[in-house]
Amino acid sequence: MRIGIVGATGIVGTKLIQLLEKTHLPITELRLIASVHSSGKLIIFKEKLLEVYKISAEVFDNLDLVFFMASSDVAKEYVDVAISKGAVVIDNSSAFRMKENVPLVVPEVNQEVITKNDRLIANPNCSTIQLVVPLYLLSKINQIKRVDVSTYQAVSGAGKEAIDEFIEQIKNYETKKVKPQILPVKDELVHYEIINNAIPQIDVFENNNYTKEEMKVIHESQKILNKKMQISCTAVRIPVLNGHSESVTVTFENEVSLNLVKEAFNEEKNLIVLDDPKNQVYPLAKIANGKNEVFIGRVRKDIYANNILHFFVVADNLLKGAAANALQIAEKCYSEKIYGW
Ligand SMILES: NC(=O)c1ccc[n+]([C@@H]2O[C@H](COP(=O)([O-])OP(=O)(O)OC[C@H]3O[C@@H](n4cnc5c(N)ncnc54)[C@H](OP(=O)(O)O)[C@@H]3O)[C@@H](O)[C@H]2O)c1
Repeated sequence: MRIGIVGATGIVGTKLIQLLEKTHLPITELRLIASVHSSGKLIIFKEKLLEVYKISAEVFDNLDLVFFMASSDVAKEYVDVAISKGAVVIDNSSAFRMKENVPLVVPEVNQEVITKNDRLIANPNCSTIQLVVPLYLLSKINQIKRVDVSTYQAVSGAGKEAIDEFIEQIKNYETKKVKPQILPVKDELVHYEIINNAIPQIDVFENNNYTKEEMKVIHESQKILNKKMQISCTAVRIPVLNGHSESVTVTFENEVSLNLVKEAFNEEKNLIVLDDPKNQVYPLAKIANGKNEVFIGRVRKDIYANNILHFFVVADNLLKGAAANALQIAEKCYSEKIYGW
């Protein structure tokens, strides 16, 4: 397989290159693509140095699969070009996720929606991916009426510039004030320090006073689960380098059985249950960091209502929330011979 990665120098692209070292996909060529700033840079893949190419129409010639791991603007400009040259595209940006004929896929949940006619597959938002894995399992045992989620999102979710800003603030915490310029949103007028802070804004606000990130979680979860259940989300950036956490409350139509819930969670091999409060065992960003699975714990029923369940779910936003999910999609397509690779 001839594979391309757009955004190969970014934090998600870098993770994908590392994952591709271990994949069973039969890679005959890996073409690394980024902006003009990275043109000519060398990156190690399987002990060889690969050159990074500047994005252009020609760079997509003769590729079977292209991972787009860059911004929505880059995807909007070049995804069609890659497809017109014969590649299948897996896009990690939000550019096409809500388009009607574009499958939005978390393999544990809805891999069956991909058909050989789909030349573009969208990878969901990181906060959505780790949420829908348990919601899907719960929806099989009881009808979900409503979901309320609060996120505690790591700085790496905002890209490499945000990480650099956070590290600068850590290094200079006691000596000098470093003026924030990236978080919560690079293009906004006002910026806040992330160190020693929790910022209840991820991405820009929409007219309904929810942020774009919050609305992505709502709309994408409904699309993936193929259900119009009520969902509300509050997305918060916290001073953690990597690993998103979420506190989730699910209201069911009927009374919920904790035993059935635990059975359902235990059956999914990519969902690791860490739930032993007496021994202080529960999911942590530090545990999820570097892992491809989703971690769940603090699973308990509501004190007042029999049809309400609470839990805490954590995942590595760069892996299961981005690169690992994208690769998992590609591997499923390969093992099921959807595209003849
Ligand atoms: N970070 C996360 O946790 C996460 C999770 C899920 C989804 N995502 C999504 O994944 C995408 C990448 O995120 P990231 O965090 O990896 O961002 P990042 O670290 O800022 O990297 C961005 C990448 O895009 C490249 N790029 C920038 N402008 C370009 C252009 N005009 N043409 C071609 N390439 C260009 C950059 O190349 P240069 O190095 O040359 O500038 C770099 O390789 C975004 O759509 C993001 O929303 C991120």
